[in-house]
Amino acid sequence: MTVTTVVPGAFEAPIDPAALARMASAIFSALPGQLPGAQAPVNVAPPGSPLSSPAGLGPGVPGTPIPQGQVPGTNLIPASPTPVLSLANRIPALLPHAPAGNGVPDNAFAPVPGYEPRFGGNALGVPEAASGDSYYFLPNGHPSPGGAPQPTAKAGSLDALAQLPFATPEPPRAVPATPAAAQPVTTPSTESQFYFVDAVVLPSGYTTPATPGAREKPLGVQDRHPAFDVHAVRRDFPILSERVNGHPLAWLDNAATTQKPRSVIERVSYFYEHENSNIHRAAHELAARATDAYEAAREKVRGFLNAPDVNEVIFVRGTTEAINLVAKSWGWQHIGEGDEIIVSHLEHHANIVPWQQLASAKGAKLRVIPVDDSGQVLLDEYQKLLNDRTKIVSVTQVSNALGTVVPVKKIVELAHRAGAKALVDGAQSVSHMRVDVQDIGADFFVFSGHKIFGPTGIGALWGKRGVLENMPPWQGGGNMIADVTFEKTVFQPLPNTFEAGTGNIADAVGLGAAIDYVQRLGMENIARYEHELLVYGQNLLRQIPGVRMIGTADDKASVMSFVLAGHSTEEVGRALNKEGIAVRTGHHCAQPILRRFGVETTVRPSLAFYNTTEEIDRLVKVVRRLGQR
Ligand code: ALA
Repeated sequence: MTVTTVVPGAFEAPIDPAALARMASAIFSALPGQLPGAQAPVNVAPPGSPLSSPAGLGPGVPGTPIPQGQVPGTNLIPASPTPVLSLANRIPALLPHAPAGNGVPDNAFAPVPGYEPRFGGNALGVPEAASGDSYYFLPNGHPSPGGAPQPTAKAGSLDALAQLPFATPEPPRAVPATPAAAQPVTTPSTESQFYFVDAVVLPSGYTTPATPGAREKPLGVQDRHPAFDVHAVRRDFPILSERVNGHPLAWLDNAATTQKPRSVIERVSYFYEHENSNIHRAAHELAARATDAYEAAREKVRGFLNAPDVNEVIFVRGTTEAINLVAKSWGWQHIGEGDEIIVSHLEHHANIVPWQQLASAKGAKLRVIPVDDSGQVLLDEYQKLLNDRTKIVSVTQVSNALGTVVPVKKIVELAHRAGAKALVDGAQSVSHMRVDVQDIGADFFVFSGHKIFGPTGIGALWGKRGVLENMPPWQGGGNMIADVTFEKTVFQPLPNTFEAGTGNIADAVGLGAAIDYVQRLGMENIARYEHELLVYGQNLLRQIPGVRMIGTADDKASVMSFVLAGHSTEEVGRALNKEGIAVRTGHHCAQPILRRFGVETTVRPSLAFYNTTEEIDRLVKVVRRLGQR
């Protein structure tokens, strides 16, 4: 086959695919930010695969080798496989067309040895490079989490990374560095109390990460898990180098939104620089690239949730839109007068208002699962609410205001036993724990991209195929039709049925990059590290005179809501902001649960895996100082 290439202002010449591939390799290798000295694994997009574009250079040509970053003849980094893997994993933006639909080679997933996932199943696993050898992880014996910066297992790879054109300078430390001569030699501490976390089976069925004997052993010394090097991770997030009011930014507002790693930022830029087009329609190269990228992101969401079928993943603006979609499509079809809808007292307004609107329009009733004084749902009371009028149970997996981890699997099982459908709101859970929709068993699962280190304005609704297929479209327009006449419209099958109009294509692609990022770190590693931080932070906060913690359930994630006697929550927020510490104060769009605890607002620090004990210490210091006034 010959392809005619037109070079503007030059000449027209027939070029065979092999020549084209060589050109693509040369061009790709010359891109800024290629990995010097990297070994170049060659991936071939099989002819006809969704990753093969119908025309174009290099990666888009069926059967063309995809070079993954090598500048021949450079040797800044020794060509050892491990650092190369780590580095390559950091810049998916430079791997424009990934070799597999989920962006990671099929053989790159491996179970985390010896770790029991929160929701069962190792189906997703983590890339091997991230589970042990990556520079994100430290040798056993490191005292993590997030204390003084430590040398990393692959310090050389970090140094080398700093020489690459896209690397940013090392961010300022949360605590000013001691001059080298005076710096104490940090040895792995065996004294730090916060590493000792009892292994407890929590109501959700999750066993906290400590192993028997953990009381005698700091977590960093446990054999099973490499310690998490938070300082290496922080370098991936450019915004964490910001200074606010003269202080290093401490971003403790992760329940509101999360910060974005460079790989996400670069992936979105790459889309606009090289792939931007509308999808599905036009038969040209950029439409093919945009469609490939968008559909690859859908596959990443599928893999992330362990959903059985990629067509069950619908892109939406976020959790709020996803719940509205279900309420306005499934709900309008199935809820009638006298029917009942159950939510929990913990819900965000987004999981109350759409159901309330539906109930009021249809003459149905909204019923509420109460919580105990710790903020955990009362399963016995829930069971009493279920009856044959219950049509749907819609609950959050993690409370945004309190941090309670809700036993959703049990709630779903009981809903199904009563003949009801179940929806799980994963907005606050997906960034903190592994989610497996098949294990949870709900009919719908929803989440927002911006809560999981991806862009705003993009999220996903997952639903069981049999349920989605019987739901009417909730919006009509382009993209979701197969045929339109003035008499009638035939709709596209899933997932397009529910994606009317031009969606947020670039940010869906960015969400895919965010999923790649957290999967490289490993959700179990994230969950374990954050659990330690949470235990550390809560222990310190609750000891401050005048502090009342709001939400003290045994099983919690990320959120440390509190009020301080004698001070409004706004006052506390302002004092923290002066020191560069960002938290949310207010009702957190969850007024009913705050009122259950007799408050209208709280101060809500919320953690992510890039936070450190130093940042928590800074928070605690400000609150303690205010409390003493
Ligand atoms: N749902 C977000 C929060 O909890 C906005 O802050």
